[in-house]
Amino acid sequence: MSGTTLHILGIVGSLRAGSYNRALLRVAAQVLPPGVELDTFTLEDIPPYNADVQSHGDPEPVARLKQLLVEADAVLIAAPEYNYSIPGVLKNAIDWVSRPPKTCPLRKKPVGIIGASSGESGTMRGQLAMRQVFVFLDSYVMGQPELRVTRAGERFDEGGALVDEELRERLRVYMAALVDWARLVGRR
Ligand SMILES: Cc1cc2nc3c(=O)[nH]c(=O)nc-3n(C[C@H](O)[C@H](O)[C@H](O)COP(=O)(O)O)c2cc1C
Repeated sequence: MSGTTLHILGIVGSLRAGSYNRALLRVAAQVLPPGVELDTFTLEDIPPYNADVQSHGDPEPVARLKQLLVEADAVLIAAPEYNYSIPGVLKNAIDWVSRPPKTCPLRKKPVGIIGASSGESGTMRGQLAMRQVFVFLDSYVMGQPELRVTRAGERFDEGGALVDEELRERLRVYMAALVDWARLVGRR
């Protein structure tokens, strides 16, 4: 949080270099209202959660993620759905930052959830599974609008560029709503 600029931290729930969800966050950063910035965090350096390791202190990538979350005015998660649920790397990262619960930086943090899948579900069930996790974390997850991208392979070209202008407009509307939500519940 700094000055009047509203900072959103994007988190990609896929490690794949050509991830559609990573591409979705790139487009989100292009359709922001004025005075808003979006940086993206990727999860490849986050180790598997281990309470024994954490008892000696957070590993550096976890500490960095926690600090970025503290500084962010809102969080935007873009994740695929794996076997109808949350990708393991994303759940693992959330588990790290959720400990200890009293200082969890996601507590009372405005959160948006979007996702792209190659099939027809558009991550519908994965998004619901994430909402369940955020109940315990006491995060302020935006209810509506939702953004689910079906058949993602048809909406991006091989270089990861968006070829679906209607999706760009949906993202613009979504980002405007998330910013309104962050200002409302984050009181900024
Ligand atoms: C382990 C695994 C499980 C998957 N399960 C689902 C699923 O439940 N529903 C779905 O729509 N797509 C599923 N998919 C396909 C993903 O939607 C597709 O791989 C997508 O491109 C992943 O997102 P990414 O492009 O950001 O990596 C699965 C893919 C993998 C690798």
